[in-house]
Amino acid sequence: MKRIGMLTSGGDCQALNATMRGVVKGLANNLDELEVYGFMNGYKGLIYGDYRMLTSHDFSGILTRGGTILGTSRQPFKLMREPDEKGLDKVEAMKQNYHKLRLDCLVILGGNGTQKTANLLREEGLNIIHLPKTIDNDIYGTDMTFGFYSAVDIATNTIDCIHTTAASHNRVFIVEVMGHKVGWLTLYAGIASGADIILIPEIPYDEAKIIEAINRRKKRGSDFTILAVAEGAIPKEIAELPKKERKKAMAEIAERYPSISYKLAADIQKETGMELRVTIPGHMQRGGSPCPYDRVLATRLGSEAAKYILDEDYGNMVAIVDGKIKKVPLGEVAGRLKTVDPECQEIRDAKRIGISFGD
Ligand code: F6P
Repeated sequence: MKRIGMLTSGGDCQALNATMRGVVKGLANNLDELEVYGFMNGYKGLIYGDYRMLTSHDFSGILTRGGTILGTSRQPFKLMREPDEKGLDKVEAMKQNYHKLRLDCLVILGGNGTQKTANLLREEGLNIIHLPKTIDNDIYGTDMTFGFYSAVDIATNTIDCIHTTAASHNRVFIVEVMGHKVGWLTLYAGIASGADIILIPEIPYDEAKIIEAINRRKKRGSDFTILAVAEGAIPKEIAELPKKERKKAMAEIAERYPSISYKLAADIQKETGMELRVTIPGHMQRGGSPCPYDRVLATRLGSEAAKYILDEDYGNMVAIVDGKIKKVPLGEVAGRLKTVDPECQEIRDAKRIGISFGD
C-alpha cells in the first residue's frame, strides 16, 4: 500500500499529464493498493489543503492532453518562508497536510522555482520526488526537460510561417520566443527554422552587428531577414552596466515598449529605413498536445519515478543524462540554472553556417 501526493507548479507546459500518467501507471501496475492525492493549483493546494483523491480513471486518456489536470499557479520560493495575509506559516501548513494524509511521498512536477521549494520540503523532512518540466530547458542536472521539444515545434512553426511572408514582402521580421533568463528555446527554434539572426540572453547583442548582418544579406540578394529573439535578449551596452543600473535601463525600455523586440524593431527601422514587423507567439508555446519526443520522455521519467517510490528512494530529481534516466540529488541541483554556454557546439555550428548572434 502506498499513499502518494502529487502536484504541478509554476508555468504549465506540454506533457505534465503524460508524466503524471507514467508515475501512476508505473505504481498501479506494481501495487495492489494505491492512493493518489492530487493537490490543486500547485503548492497552493498543498498549503491550503485543497486536494482530491484521484483514481486510475483520471490518468486514462491524458497522454496527449496539454495543460495539467491538477491546475497550477506560481508560488514564489522567496515568499515561502513568509506568512500569508492571514498569518499562516506556509511551510508548516504544507507539512501538516502531508502528514494529515499520511503520505509516503510527494511527487512534484515543476521548473526551477518549484524545485527550490521541493528541496526546502525535503530539508524539512518530507519524502520528495521532483520531475523536471519547462519549455525553457534550464534545469540544472538534466539534459532535457519535458515541454521543451513541444515548444520548439511551435516556435519553429511560427517562424516557418513568417518566413514565407517575410520573403514575399521583403521585410525584416522579429519573432520573439519565450525565455527570460535562458535562450535554449530560441536557439533551437532559430536553428530549426533557418533564422538569420538569433539573439539570446547569454549573448548580449550589438545593434550595429545586427544591422551589418541584415545588410550583408541584402548585398547577397536577400531583401528579407528573420530574427529569432528571446524575451530576455539584452543590448550589450546595458548588459555591461552594474546590476542596479542595468535593471533601471531595462525598466525604462519596458515602460516605452511592449518588449525588447519592439525596441529593437524601432531602432533597426530608424537606422536602415527598412520595414519591420514583430510577431510574438507567447503562451501558444506552452500549449497543445506534447510532441512524440516529450511523450516518450515524460513516460520514461514518470515510470522511473514510480520505481523510486516502490524502492522508497526519495529526495531526488528524475533526470535524463546522456540518454539514460537517472536520479540526481535535489540538494545538488536546487537553485542552479542551466544556461546556454556561448561557446557551446550548437552555437559554433550555427555561426559556421552564417547565423549571426549579434556579437
Ligand atoms: O518558465 C516558462 C515561461 O514560459 C518562460 O519561458 C516565460 O518567460 C514565462 O514562463 C512566462 O510566465 P507567465 O506564464 O507567468 O507569463
